[in-house]
Amino acid sequence: MDVVVSSDGHWPDDVERILRALPEWFGLEDAVLGYVRDAKSLPNIVARAGDDVVGVCLVRRHTPVAAEIELLAVPPGLHRHGIGRLLIDRAIDDLRRDGVELLQVKTFGPSGDSEHYQRTRAFYAALGFLPLEERTDIWGPENPCLISVKPLPPGPGAPAASAPPGQI
Ligand SMILES: CC(C)(COP(=O)(O)OP(=O)(O)OC[C@H]1O[C@@H](n2cnc3c(N)ncnc32)[C@H](O)[C@@H]1OP(=O)(O)O)[C@@H](O)C(=O)NCCC(=O)NCCS
Repeated sequence: MDVVVSSDGHWPDDVERILRALPEWFGLEDAVLGYVRDAKSLPNIVARAGDDVVGVCLVRRHTPVAAEIELLAVPPGLHRHGIGRLLIDRAIDDLRRDGVELLQVKTFGPSGDSEHYQRTRAFYAALGFLPLEERTDIWGPENPCLISVKPLPPGPGAPAASAPPGQI
């Protein structure tokens, strides 16, 4: 499957279609509607195979150097084909070019009981996200929230680190 990733435009209808196909991850109606709203304003990254959107990612900037993966979803049946990795790689490329050095993502935490989110956490771990802390004051005690972070290398055009003493 040839997949093309782009980050121009907004794709709320595709976000809604893909989230509704993933009820094990996105079962809360208010949350789905919130993501569809976000897709109209936040930067969207989409993966396309021909005319079909086969993956979506929304990115939220918090500070000039920090951003968050607000949403990432690939339709069921297309998992483990590398699409999630392509979307995150593209998000990271765009963010590094724009000076971002730290990327976070929030997922359902390991103290909760979800085999599905265990897979999600395995994905983020494979992509180099480090578990920072699990909190119950963000989504409530029933929904432990794991915050994971990934430091990003300086982007092209960033000032070069000074050489250690004695080295050119
Ligand atoms: C999480 C998700 C976006 C990952 O996308 P994907 O296209 O399936 O993932 P990739 O194929 O790019 O996987 C990249 C690597 O992550 C790891 N990985 C992915 N899924 C995994 C799983 N189920 N178990 C263990 N490792 C996994 C592997 O190392 C994989 O590389 P490999 O296939 O070469 O071994 C996708 O599975 C999805 O939409 N899940 C449901 C929604 C969701 O969890 N969204 C994130 C909410 S924050």
